[in-house]
Amino acid sequence: MCGIFGYLGNEDAVPILLEGLRTLEYRGYDSAGIFVPGYGAVKSAGQIVNLEKKLDKDIKGKSGIAHTRWATHGVPSEKNAHPHHDMSGQLWLVHNGIIENFRELKEGLLVQGIKFYSDTDTEVLIKLIGSFYSGDLLQATKLALKAVRGTYGLAVMSETEPDKIVVARMGSPIVLGIGKDGNFISSDPSALLIHTKNVVFLDDGEVAVVKKDSYEITTIEGVKKEKKSERIEWSHEAVQKNGYEHFMLKEIFEAPEVIENTLRGRLKLDTGEAKLGGLEAITHRLKNIQRLYIVGCGSAYYAGQVGRYMLEEYARLPVEVELGSEYRYKKAYPDKRALALFVSQSGETADTRASLEKAKELGLTTVGMVNVVGSAISREVDAGIYNYAGPEVAVASTKAFLSQLTAFALLTLFLGRERGMTQVEGIEIVRALHKLPETIKKVLATSESIAKVAKKYAHCRDFMYIGRAFHSPIAYEGALKLKEVTYIHAEAYAGGELKHGPIAMLDKNFPVMALMPQDMVYEKMISNIEEIKARSAPIIALATEGDLRISSVADDVIYMPKVHPLLQPIISVIPLQLFAYYVGVEKGLNVDRPRNLAKSVTVE
Ligand code: AGP
Repeated sequence: MCGIFGYLGNEDAVPILLEGLRTLEYRGYDSAGIFVPGYGAVKSAGQIVNLEKKLDKDIKGKSGIAHTRWATHGVPSEKNAHPHHDMSGQLWLVHNGIIENFRELKEGLLVQGIKFYSDTDTEVLIKLIGSFYSGDLLQATKLALKAVRGTYGLAVMSETEPDKIVVARMGSPIVLGIGKDGNFISSDPSALLIHTKNVVFLDDGEVAVVKKDSYEITTIEGVKKEKKSERIEWSHEAVQKNGYEHFMLKEIFEAPEVIENTLRGRLKLDTGEAKLGGLEAITHRLKNIQRLYIVGCGSAYYAGQVGRYMLEEYARLPVEVELGSEYRYKKAYPDKRALALFVSQSGETADTRASLEKAKELGLTTVGMVNVVGSAISREVDAGIYNYAGPEVAVASTKAFLSQLTAFALLTLFLGRERGMTQVEGIEIVRALHKLPETIKKVLATSESIAKVAKKYAHCRDFMYIGRAFHSPIAYEGALKLKEVTYIHAEAYAGGELKHGPIAMLDKNFPVMALMPQDMVYEKMISNIEEIKARSAPIIALATEGDLRISSVADDVIYMPKVHPLLQPIISVIPLQLFAYYVGVEKGLNVDRPRNLAKSVTVE
């Protein structure tokens, strides 16, 4: 939700802290703040640029902490922005997460005569730390955290101890960056890349004292933890726009390379099989699984829905797809012959993590499909499949979604070849996967014609997306993209559902995006759009190249290449990502930082 950054070293801290915040801004961007011992704290509402304007030019401090916020408790404002301080004004805290029992804690502190100036749960935490403080910041922080219920990734500093930052993690990520001439802390490794690739991931329940040339990790109970740094292979360039106007467009155009990275070393053409090294630890359990549960949120959930079609159709495996926010609370039963797969780009989504916890309690074998290396879910599952899509900065997921669908195709091949898929069928799929990056380049080459169609419909207030079979989840994902980056009311339905109600909404002001690849349900979709045409709703058809029939029933047609049916959804979603992007740009919106959203939802 929020972004935290910190630095201790020999350089002036302010430029380094601001650079860190800019890279983390996709995590939350409604207010920001900075604290530098010896100088004090500065906070502002709105984006980082507002904070920069308020900062004096020559702040000399060599250490500090900073924060960019996504409000949960207390409206976005300068008063509620972080960092927050204790009663003495000496201790300062930045926090990502939610202190669930902050009201009870606040009552206890009020009785002690402690005063409050903001509406935030975070201020209660620093006031609590302050109430335990008698010169040892680490001790005071641990005592306070023992009384806290909720989630946090936090960093706290004292005006009088500029050479140390105390950090702690419970549910929200904190990563240490181990540099040559200084050390860093961040909510996300991508903000560390400009300084170092050597990182240490904190686990839940861990606290660390970080100094410019050392770090010491213990548990809240005080048990010492030895943790070596690990190397992150991402480049700093990967978190830059590289000449594109927006991260979203850059990440859509990264698709061919992303698919190559997801496939690298995982295809065996000669035997028509897939190799998933990350699942080797559970091969014995995979042999006779009878059911797969897929759990995810938002786009990850829709990727799971496409995965279900792939696995049921080509790997003969019954699949249930669950929303993370529902699965965590619903009645579920132990099932020794089932596998639970958790899909998450960030690997930090709270509802998906809680569902993982539940599946483990039920004794299910757990697998993660995750993009961020070293993230919580990747460390909490029994085995995993990394996406290798590289850092995804734009809030709306695009390349990671494509990589998730590709990973599901690999999983389908991996399990399918154990469950009756023939070598011939397997080789056909491997060949089709090899051709995918080149085919995607052809789709991206049509971006200008897609932009034209997008401009034509950018004024619309309502939109409907329809698709059938493999393409019904893609209709939902297309509608989600449009909602996220254009704020247009977009509905999605499986084509066959229209007659059961939704068609009542349609009229000449309610265009329909119809996903019409020439597949087994093409004829059914044709009847659907004829029903729609009869209600004068404009139709944009996403159709297969060479489909001459479609232009007679649709107002606009976006053509796409035909590929293996298992992989067609990967091709089909790209024009929908571009369509949403160009409508958002046409409306002059910040497509990388849509209002009210954040890249990683680390609180419930
Ligand atoms: C997708 O564009 C959104 N950013 C959002 O729906 C996202 O897919 C969801 O929050 C899940 O995130 P995750 O994949 O990091 O778990």
